[in-house]
Amino acid sequence: MDLPKPIYELEYGHGAQYGPEEEAALREVLAAGAPSCGPRVKKFEEAFASYCGVPHGLAVTSATAGLQLAMIAAKVGPDDEVITTPISWISTANAAASQGARVVFADVDPRTLNLTADSITQKITKRTKVILLVHLYGQCCDMDPIMELARRRDILVVEDCAHAAGAEYKGRRAGSLADIGVFSFHQQKNMVTLGEGGMLTTSRRDLYERMLSFRSLCCRTYDPKGKYLAIDESKLPMGKHYWYLDFDDVGFNFRMTDAQAAVGLVQLAKLDGFNARRIEIANLYCQHLRGIRGLTSPYVSPDVKHVFHIYCVLVEPEFRLSKEDFMWELYTSKRIKVWSHYMPIHLTTAYRRLGHAEGECPVAENLFRKYVSLPIHPRMTEESIAYVADSIREMA
Ligand SMILES: Cc1ncc(COP(=O)(O)O)c(C=O)c1O
Repeated sequence: MDLPKPIYELEYGHGAQYGPEEEAALREVLAAGAPSCGPRVKKFEEAFASYCGVPHGLAVTSATAGLQLAMIAAKVGPDDEVITTPISWISTANAAASQGARVVFADVDPRTLNLTADSITQKITKRTKVILLVHLYGQCCDMDPIMELARRRDILVVEDCAHAAGAEYKGRRAGSLADIGVFSFHQQKNMVTLGEGGMLTTSRRDLYERMLSFRSLCCRTYDPKGKYLAIDESKLPMGKHYWYLDFDDVGFNFRMTDAQAAVGLVQLAKLDGFNARRIEIANLYCQHLRGIRGLTSPYVSPDVKHVFHIYCVLVEPEFRLSKEDFMWELYTSKRIKVWSHYMPIHLTTAYRRLGHAEGECPVAENLFRKYVSLPIHPRMTEESIAYVADSIREMA
């Protein structure tokens, strides 16, 4: 098959954008011997936590690792249920399933595609331990009623903010809206740390300490007289010798490196600019695509600052092509790569094997027949945005 020539920003759809500032930061880390979890990680954690408006940040290797630590902090186990959304990357549900908990999928709001207090209420039982939300595509869930519901029942709430760095709900930042926030700095995200990376945020000291410990193998450090020094070797005061290690529990190595953190600090300073560009591109798409029969642009709630990690349109039955044909034609005739974020998790082979089945979340299943994500990231030029929009209009 003859495809049109690739267009760089449309073929390589991830948003990573580095400049001389990141390069300079990396040179400094190299000169310092590029340590594992060193002083730059601490600085990055403090800066990120302060950006979100919480006292504690904990840098990790990925959001997948962070979600797992969040479940461990909540002491989720085989007797527990975790309520989550079917529309997410599979890491979200896996965090609960990998602790042996039962994953309970609540259905989503048809406009925002997010969980709501109503949909969650229908799934709460005596065994519900955690509500695990996702601020899908960069738009925060309607948090006030959800937090009220959770507080009344003493249920811990974790916000998966993988799409939502810099997003806001009623003027408060994602990462400060629940008990624990989990961020991703994977190469496709709104800010990035050399391909992979993540951050946990919390206001609760007890949860922070538990996650800190499990991030680093639950390692305790003692001096020769058996005096306890630190739960995390990376947090030992400089120059202090430690002599033997003990372990409190069965933990992990989910530590971020200083090289990633040095880049993360630079990226954090650029995040609002990156998000402003994403919002601008989303507005341009909305203008260009307005009036096309059977194509619905994303709904944005008045309570949020949506940071458009993903720009998702709905291909309705009135559109000239089916969703699949629309996606195929965009690629084969225009070389525009689009995606469908995501296959509902309960319909994946892995979760069908765990007993989940079609019919569990009818709204999400119906939306899956329609949603398509158009390319969006700060590297896109005006020409490429117009090219995508014009190509879609041609197909309508
Ligand atoms: C909603 C959501 N949660 C979690 C993750 C996992 O992030 P990571 O790739 O950093 O493990 C992703 C990744 O795309 C995601 O989209």
